[in-house]
Amino acid sequence: MASGPLVVGLGGSAGPESTSGALLRDALRRVQACGARTVAFDGERLAALPIFNPHDALPGPVGDELLEAVRRADALVIATPGYHGGMSGLVKNALDHLELLRDDARPYLDGRAVGIIVATSGWQSCGTALVAVRSAVHALRGWPTPFGLTVNTAEQAIDDDRVRGGMAVLTAQLMAFTAWRAAAEREAARRTPARTEREVTR
Ligand SMILES: Cc1cc2nc3c(=O)[nH]c(=O)nc-3n(C[C@H](O)[C@H](O)[C@H](O)COP(=O)(O)O)c2cc1C
Repeated sequence: MASGPLVVGLGGSAGPESTSGALLRDALRRVQACGARTVAFDGERLAALPIFNPHDALPGPVGDELLEAVRRADALVIATPGYHGGMSGLVKNALDHLELLRDDARPYLDGRAVGIIVATSGWQSCGTALVAVRSAVHALRGWPTPFGLTVNTAEQAIDDDRVRGGMAVLTAQLMAFTAWRAAAEREAARRTPARTEREVTR
């Protein structure tokens, strides 16, 4: 049975031609090649989510699956088209559902690295949409990777060298942070019983 870290991918737009969806699939293939297990919530699945209503927060079957996957996730990849300088409503609605993780022992995206990918048809929106997703991830206590991948679909194809290189950097940073974090947690767990023992014998 696979035992690598679990990377949850979410994003893309509904429909078969989504560039951000294709980039998300590429990112998940790359982390799988590094030993990760993956779960994907593509545009079609995200479109099955109801609009999040904080006063009547029934997530529905896809929402339940999303929440359960994010609870178990060791890292995430979020891919969005740039819409009016920000992320799409589809992706934002999925992030809004994570509010239902507020009272978890590990709330929201706490402690998880998040790789962010933006596909949009202009350079300005590349920057502004990336910042918008980073801000949301920060608000959710996640750790955006230092490198975020932006693709200007008016000028770049997803197999351009620069895009492929950027994807390699993003996925390497995601896997490295996830491994460091797991090692830090193992070390903290190793130290905790020792401290308890000292306290008992004092
Ligand atoms: C509602 C909407 C808003 C958009 N707003 C912007 C924008 O502000 N700036 C921009 O460069 N492109 C904008 N675009 C273009 C998309 O970002 C671009 O087509 C992107 O590649 C779509 O990604 P997808 O193929 O994953 O759906 C917009 C497209 C739509 C449908």
